[in-house]
Amino acid sequence: MRTQVGIVGAGPAGLLLSHLLALQGIESVVLENRSREYVEARIRAGVLEHDTVDVLIETGVGDRMQREGLVHEGLELRVDGHGTRIPLTELTGRRIMVYGQQEVVKDLIAHRLADGGTVLFEAEATSISGIDSDEAVIRFTQDGEEHELACDVVAGCDGFHGISRAAMPDHAYRERVHDYPFGWLGITAEVPPSTDELIYTWHERGFALHSLRSPELSRLYVQCDPGDDIEQWPDEAIWAELQTRMARAGWTLKQGPIVEKAITPMRGFVTEPMQHGRLYLAGDAAHIVPPTGAKGLNLAVADVRVLADGLAAWYADGRTDLLDRYSETALKRVWKVQHFSTWMTHMLHTFPNDPDGFFRRVQRAQLDYVTGSRAAATSLAEFYVGLPTIIRS
Ligand code: FAD
Ligand code: DHB
Repeated sequence: MRTQVGIVGAGPAGLLLSHLLALQGIESVVLENRSREYVEARIRAGVLEHDTVDVLIETGVGDRMQREGLVHEGLELRVDGHGTRIPLTELTGRRIMVYGQQEVVKDLIAHRLADGGTVLFEAEATSISGIDSDEAVIRFTQDGEEHELACDVVAGCDGFHGISRAAMPDHAYRERVHDYPFGWLGITAEVPPSTDELIYTWHERGFALHSLRSPELSRLYVQCDPGDDIEQWPDEAIWAELQTRMARAGWTLKQGPIVEKAITPMRGFVTEPMQHGRLYLAGDAAHIVPPTGAKGLNLAVADVRVLADGLAAWYADGRTDLLDRYSETALKRVWKVQHFSTWMTHMLHTFPNDPDGFFRRVQRAQLDYVTGSRAAATSLAEFYVGLPTIIRS
């Protein structure tokens, strides 16, 4: 089998890249080791930046999102029962959309298949070779059989645990990692959201977040120990912790059946550079941000927009400069977003090893500043709605 761009992974990065390339008349094949049902049901992020929303609409895959997504123009920072609204749109002129990642994935898969695109499910990439030559080869297994996909270029969009990153020679890249001493326990509950806007909560017992998915579905998170087993968290314990951390006079947190729960560790991670020879990494395959700023999915989208642009220039005019600079261009945004996600994480989570409460006092001062200063609130808002994505074409 041969194609122009071999894409490993049918997450948001791989699927959107395939879609953007098709719009430029460039062929691709997407290999995904899980089943279609599995990737369409996998619950992850939920906040789309302004430019992420725009690119989905402008490229024709945003219809359902526009009908079913929830446009948000603000968020709440809640500290010890006292809430302050950060008016994102008033401060920046831009907005966000709450629409589940799995819905974006469903929409992209449906469009790729309807457009005659090739997305192979239960097709596990096992090796990538030839990236230092003019033709790369991805070996993959499907239905117990070994296959080869030859291509001009490989896009490694296979997430943090994929195989693409390690296909670069050891000497060609460096990984920078920061593991946080806490994780997030996330739940989806069948109960109407108790809020119209997201609530990010600081509390002595740890961070909590109220998000939403639809008028009937709430999504909530609590800071937990990264080593916790989900079995240690019966539903009543999760609700009790949420009730304590989010309590606010005159406000009620509505409870309902929990239909999904999982613990995610918190990590900052960046691969530099994000390319070698004919292999380009995008999304979680190249970097992870702690989830506090809701940036993982949006960063994956920004990467593939830059990559698709570079590939389009190469195929159309033989220009290599944009592709050569892919990693440099993408990493500028990656490190800024890494900064924002680290900043939000440090402001809102309880850290172990703070015996005198020194760090907690600093956090309270920081929150006081962000909620009291228009300049500081604008800085948060500017990052939250998303830095502008500058693409050549
Ligand atoms: P992924 O979505 O991980 O897609 C990679 C794809 O590659 C997967 O479908 C995988 O099955 C496939 N794959 C892997 N290996 C192979 C192989 N060898 N062959 C073929 N296919 C392969 N971000 C937030 O902003 N907020 C959140 O609440 C949040 N929660 C998260 C919870 C979890 C458990 C995880 C893992 C991530 C979460 N994120 C969250 C981050 C966000 O979801 C990611 O940043 C986003 O999914 C990145 O998209 P991607 O396409 O780069 O990678
Ligand atoms: C959601 C996830 C996040 O990481 C975040 O910061 C806000 C919302 C969500 O899943 O809705």
